[in-house]
Amino acid sequence: MSTVTELGYVGIEASDLVAWERFATGLLGMQVGCRTDDMLTLRMDDAVHRWIVVSGSADDLAFTGFGCATDTDLDAIVARLREAGTEVVEGDTRLCAQRHVRRIAITTDPLGNRIELYIGLADAPTPFQSPQRVSRFVTGGIGAGHQVLIENGADRRMLVDWYGLLGFRTTDIIDEEVMPGVVASVTFLRCNPRHHTVAFANMPYGKRMHHFMIEAADLGDVGLAHDRCLEAQQPLEMSLGMHPNDRMFSFYVRTPSGFNVEFGWGGLMIDESCWEVQHLDQLSTWGHRPPHVVADLLRR
Ligand SMILES: [Fe+2]
Repeated sequence: MSTVTELGYVGIEASDLVAWERFATGLLGMQVGCRTDDMLTLRMDDAVHRWIVVSGSADDLAFTGFGCATDTDLDAIVARLREAGTEVVEGDTRLCAQRHVRRIAITTDPLGNRIELYIGLADAPTPFQSPQRVSRFVTGGIGAGHQVLIENGADRRMLVDWYGLLGFRTTDIIDEEVMPGVVASVTFLRCNPRHHTVAFANMPYGKRMHHFMIEAADLGDVGLAHDRCLEAQQPLEMSLGMHPNDRMFSFYVRTPSGFNVEFGWGGLMIDESCWEVQHLDQLSTWGHRPPHVVADLLRR
């Protein structure tokens, strides 16, 4: 079946591009691709951009770009979406030029998130160079990272089915009772060997996206990024910790737009030949504690 192959780029609408540039380059170690008065693009590898931050008041996810390998794949996915009653519009040459892709089609997921399906994301004319000497971001054929979308009240089955039209399949589900009677539920979907590329969470959160995960190739990159965030007093959302399903060693830092970046290492790759959907009851094996909980523990 034709499927999207990767989450190639993520678009953010942000009210403070200066803060974003400082955050992304100085703390995360990304490289500026292009900077204008109302746009900032960021590189994590040789691709021309992986993050596109545009000026605006939303301070939230603006769009997500999913790559397709061939025109045949894109045509098949567009046909499936239309057959299911979803509107899809072919993008013009101007949008292709803005996104540096050969072809693009635009649709909207059931949560109202703008989805861009593309072919042929261009490479930059120069090799990637991290200003903070991050050894390497894990991207390549498995995309820029993963995103966790907020779905309060949406029909989870319907969401999973819709993303299935793009070729996503369920990796696993976590339902954790975070306090008596309150269950945090997250469904994790993949479109390539990365454990998940998209997840849906029912947590109360005033943004479209809870976090976007970027993965570094070396464990030390996580420690160094953690140090940079602490020294810059950038608010942390959750301390260092590890998830039981994708086994990501990571911490969560708040972006200048209020949602989070998960900076991780060591995420699980799925072997399609033997994977079976798991159902877990714990979001983190250890750590990933909010800063006020860490402070309370240290005061005891
Ligand atoms: Fe994550």
